[in-house]
Amino acid sequence: MGFILETGIVEQIIEHSGAVGAIIGLAIVALVTIQLTVYFLGSLKRSANELKQHNLEMEVLKTKLQTAKIKQYQQETATLGWNGFRKFVVKKKQHEGKQKPKGPYLTRTDENKEFHMNRDEMVVGRTKDTDIQVVHNTVSGKHARILCRRNELFVVDDFSTNGTTLNSEKLKPEVQVKLNHGDDLVFGDVPFKVSLPAGEAKEGTGSGICSFYLSPHDGRPLPSFEPGQYLTFQFKVPGETKPAVRCYSLSDSPKLDYYRVSIKRHFRKDKSPGLISHYWHDHVQEGDIIDVKAPGGKFYLDMDKQTPIVLIAGGVGITPCLSMLNTILDRKSKRETWFFYGLRNGKEHVFKEYLESVALENDHVRLHVCYSRPNDEDVKGKDYQHAERVSVDLFKRLLPSNNYDYYMCGPGPMMKSVVEGLDDWGVPEKNVHYEAFGPASVKKAKPAPAPAAGAPATKVTFAKSDQTVDWTGGTILELGEAAGISMESGCRAGNCGACVIALKSGEVNYVSEPSDPPEAGTCYACIAEPKGDIAVDA
Ligand SMILES: Cc1cc2nc3c(=O)[nH]c(=O)nc-3n(C[C@H](O)[C@H](O)[C@H](O)COP(=O)(O)OP(=O)(O)OC[C@H]3O[C@@H](n4cnc5c(N)ncnc54)[C@H](O)[C@@H]3O)c2cc1C
Ligand code: FES
Repeated sequence: MGFILETGIVEQIIEHSGAVGAIIGLAIVALVTIQLTVYFLGSLKRSANELKQHNLEMEVLKTKLQTAKIKQYQQETATLGWNGFRKFVVKKKQHEGKQKPKGPYLTRTDENKEFHMNRDEMVVGRTKDTDIQVVHNTVSGKHARILCRRNELFVVDDFSTNGTTLNSEKLKPEVQVKLNHGDDLVFGDVPFKVSLPAGEAKEGTGSGICSFYLSPHDGRPLPSFEPGQYLTFQFKVPGETKPAVRCYSLSDSPKLDYYRVSIKRHFRKDKSPGLISHYWHDHVQEGDIIDVKAPGGKFYLDMDKQTPIVLIAGGVGITPCLSMLNTILDRKSKRETWFFYGLRNGKEHVFKEYLESVALENDHVRLHVCYSRPNDEDVKGKDYQHAERVSVDLFKRLLPSNNYDYYMCGPGPMMKSVVEGLDDWGVPEKNVHYEAFGPASVKKAKPAPAPAAGAPATKVTFAKSDQTVDWTGGTILELGEAAGISMESGCRAGNCGACVIALKSGEVNYVSEPSDPPEAGTCYACIAEPKGDIAVDA
């Protein structure tokens, strides 16, 4: 519109004022046009800047609101009493990593229909209330049961009319028979094939990590926690004489409606499957109810500080580090965060896509993945950055200085070498924080005080095992484990109570404060040292 008006003015000037007048007129029009354009561009720029400023203010407001909400939520939930074990429902179960392993299952071969073992015991029969319903006139109402014990399957015929055959052999009623992969099982006339996927229970196949999302069964609010803390669980495993207690780190930031834990299949030194980690994987299903103790632990990230941090995760030790990272992101903190993640190879690499997207979208997060033994299919620069173990040498090459707070969780040897390396690099002890998931002597054990000249060494008697051991420093739990004595443990920090043993004689000192005072005549073996000769019931 403006352009048409200006062209009209030019024509009028030329017509009425001749050439000179026209030039002057044109100059005036050009000047006005330039001024108008400058004004127009200026206001555009101003409004873009204003918009940017407005967006920034909105972002700050949103963060403030979120922080205030979290604080209010923490204050509200901090007052909720939660002593002992509380019931939680498993809302979601999710396999992490590349492979999504299948548990044992039966296939009805005439219909090609799979029945997965999602309970310890599944009833096979014709009636509706059975777990594996087989509508066929040769199958009894309750025909047989399939039992799942630590990833092994067994079949029991329940006095069915037409019987059950295994690989063409008729089973005796009420006798439990082990099933093998590929077995042919026939209920009445209905054929089934047994599948026990080999990868499921073998060490080193797939990541073997599964996440569980847990919500309170009573629907009451969920207390918050500090990123890095853990939950304590109690399981009554069929066939075990007493409940087993284990701790698992929270693997996500505090959320209003769920806690998340991520659990790896643990294998013992003799390669046998760990009791509770396998129980989680093989038996705990969505909808199950489990016993959980309130979040606890002293290994956590101080969210009130803004100091730059280095998170160091080895294997499943990623869980508390992930909770710390996610909390930083949730709070919109721009805290400088280096994330070192050590693994053997891509098969163990969990939360890969998630971590990569976090690093891509957040300039203040620097992700460095180390594979100590990469496979042929692992691509350096894409799947991982360094073909080496996580070490202080690597930090020296990458970090601008040693001036960070270090938070670390991983296998004992990795933590020991990093803690010692940081010490040599001049990092103050107060800046190095770590947690071990099992027996791990990260620090040099404090030696037992030397007995006075001629006095005998302090003796610890493990009465049940009929062994007496000279105390050489460390806790009663460490002493017992070193002597090959079977001792229960969970948190190894005086919180969960799994290690409590009867103190038959003598007294103990605690190396750190227990969360609750132990009952009279007992002690927390994980944090107790003998105060003179003692006898314990282990
Ligand atoms: C604070 C903390 C946080 C943890 N967080 C995680 C996590 O996020 N993810 C994860 O996968 N794991 C985590 N763990 C490890 C976890 O608690 C278990 O140790 C692991 O799952 C192995 O348990 P299991 O029952 O499968 O193995 P098991 O071998 O059956 O038991 C493991 C430990 O229990 C004790 N124990 C049990 N039975 C016996 C026995 N008969 N004789 C001697 N000792 C016995 C021993 O200390 C043994 O090392 C964490 C541990 C701690 C302490
Ligand atoms: S192991 Fe948890 S209190 Fe000792």
